[in-house]
Amino acid sequence: MRIIITGASSGLGEALALYYASNKNQLVLIARREDRLTDVAARCQKKGASVETIIADVNDFEGMRKIGEYLSEQPIDRIILNAGVSVGHGGGITPFEDFERLFKTNFLSVHALLEPIIPKLIEQKFGEIVCISSLASLFTMPTSIAYSSSKRALNAYAEGLHYQLKPHGITVMTIMPGFIDSEMTQKNRFKMPFLMSTEEGVMRITHAIRQKRIRYAFPFRFYLIIRIVLLLPQSLRDKIVNFTNFKKGQ
Ligand SMILES: NC(=O)c1ccc[n+]([C@@H]2O[C@H](COP(=O)([O-])OP(=O)(O)OC[C@H]3O[C@@H](n4cnc5c(N)ncnc54)[C@H](OP(=O)(O)O)[C@@H]3O)[C@@H](O)[C@H]2O)c1
Repeated sequence: MRIIITGASSGLGEALALYYASNKNQLVLIARREDRLTDVAARCQKKGASVETIIADVNDFEGMRKIGEYLSEQPIDRIILNAGVSVGHGGGITPFEDFERLFKTNFLSVHALLEPIIPKLIEQKFGEIVCISSLASLFTMPTSIAYSSSKRALNAYAEGLHYQLKPHGITVMTIMPGFIDSEMTQKNRFKMPFLMSTEEGVMRITHAIRQKRIRYAFPFRFYLIIRIVLLLPQSLRDKIVNFTNFKKGQ
């Protein structure tokens, strides 16, 4: 299989690359930090995979389009759109620049890369697009307005893309993890409920991909709590948000 993974230099992307590293797979790994990506690639090669690395900033949309065109020269079995950033604000007003950066990295870059790839997938009549969203896309805390908004936009995008591409034999999946131990969460200064290891996160994500789950949110207990809270009257929801540790921000 030819599998493309963005944000493969650390955390979930790195662990996904290592999970799929075998002599059956050809991996294309994308990220900015060359030293980290080269190290991940070497470990994947040791496990038998053929690996190509692309050092790129996903916020360079013109660059992403060119990479998308280049990648489309050969069949693509799976593309995992995992590159992402988060920023928290301890209750303060979100600076516009943070909104811009998060929307670019977590949302707009996805379409910049996919726009040239989608016609190729339609032509080949198969392929999987996996968008790594977040449980934070389902409920917006006052300390993570930009992050939640960017991931909710990604959900809406992936939902529409699913309906558009399903008739062409292409599967579009939206994965919404809860807290996972990675560079992203190591900077958090609040208690993270149901925190999982990267390995556990990857086990669940790869299982969902195998099952071709169109929408998959985990861990289930955290997802259930969010669903229940969303059913409550607004006044009760306000109280719950007020009492959570999240108020402390990052
Ligand atoms: N950890 C969690 O609790 C959690 C929960 C839900 C969803 N997620 C999502 O899971 C994904 C992976 O996050 P993670 O937890 O594994 O965090 P991480 O360890 O910080 O990994 C983020 C990855 O994204 C890449 N990246 C960030 N900005 C980029 C840019 N402008 N251009 C290219 N690559 C960029 C980073 O590579 P370089 O810095 O080398 O470019 C890195 O490989 C993200 O989309 C995140 O939102 C994480």
